Amino acid sequence: MIESDFILKDFEVLNVSNGSVTWKTPSNIALVKYWGKQEPQIPENTSISFTLDACFTLTNLEYTKKEKKSEDFNFEIFFEDKKKEAFKPKIQQFFQRIEQYVPFLKDYDFVIKSRNSFPHSSGIASSASGMSALALCIMSLEKELNPTISEEYFNKKASFLARLGSGSACRSIEGELIIWGNHSDIKGSSDLFGVKYPYEIHGNFKNYHDTILLVDEGEKQVSSTVGHQLMYNHPFAKQRFNQANNNISKILEVLQNGGLKEFIAIVESEALSLHAMMMTSNPYFILMKPNTLKIISKIWEFRAKTGSNICFTLDAGANVHVLFPEKEKEIVNNFIISELIQYCQENHYICDRIGQGAKQITI
Ligand code: PMV
Repeated sequence: MIESDFILKDFEVLNVSNGSVTWKTPSNIALVKYWGKQEPQIPENTSISFTLDACFTLTNLEYTKKEKKSEDFNFEIFFEDKKKEAFKPKIQQFFQRIEQYVPFLKDYDFVIKSRNSFPHSSGIASSASGMSALALCIMSLEKELNPTISEEYFNKKASFLARLGSGSACRSIEGELIIWGNHSDIKGSSDLFGVKYPYEIHGNFKNYHDTILLVDEGEKQVSSTVGHQLMYNHPFAKQRFNQANNNISKILEVLQNGGLKEFIAIVESEALSLHAMMMTSNPYFILMKPNTLKIISKIWEFRAKTGSNICFTLDAGANVHVLFPEKEKEIVNNFIISELIQYCQENHYICDRIGQGAKQITI
């Protein structure tokens, strides 16, 4: 599909005056990372992520048709029951970017009410779950206006719109493994939206766990917008994009054949490569904290001692995502509690696992 396939035409067929819709949308954690993009939110390499479950955003969108279409977008935004003026510019920019695909936005007054299942200041990016939840609410309104759209189109366009809000948000519509970015090994893959992993996922990766250790709560030191920009003129950018695309080819097989050791090697290397890009950019940054490194070395020690398949990945921050298979959950949970929690800020951590994607909620 190409961009013009996502432009809604003839939407005045049905006249929808008002309504309300709610979506619960998960966050996701990349196994092969997206870092570097071109306008408009086109990734430099393919990425793949586990859709999460416990970390989600719940967004309600109320819409009321204006008497007359106006020149401006009209919306109010509440976050965790409080009016949040600070979020307005980001939503305004999102609406501007998507308006050509959903031309009814200026026909309605909107009230957006949103909350996260995880603390806002935990250092967990809320843009993936937040932007995908809003994209799905807007798609529900589109479906009211044009009920003939198929479920497949609905999901693809929701992912397409979410991508224009925040790149990784396009991987938060469906579960359990989502690929974003055109790749020669994956038929139907696209730079414009996320697609489901196309093969049978090996049993080893079913119910995979992700315990998120909150090493550094608070605003990120470097926003992902700035981080992506640092990949322009980066001395290792080209090699990095090739490395990621090769890792995609490898992980596609591993996810089918259940090779846990190969999985660990790819996932940990991806996390460290992302951080290596930040350390070698201009200006340069170290996003890990001393406790991030302590946790990593404890994980390696535990793995060497027990033969466990525990591993870690990182986002563009200091928090550590500890990944492990369902059948090791007891031994790894005990290890996390007895040895790793001490390195978290105020002992904070979140137990999450691979999830099935967004759900519409009827209230
Ligand atoms: O979606 P953005 O622009 O916030 O970028 C997210 C990038 C990483 O989380 C660091 C990696 C990824 O693929 O999710």
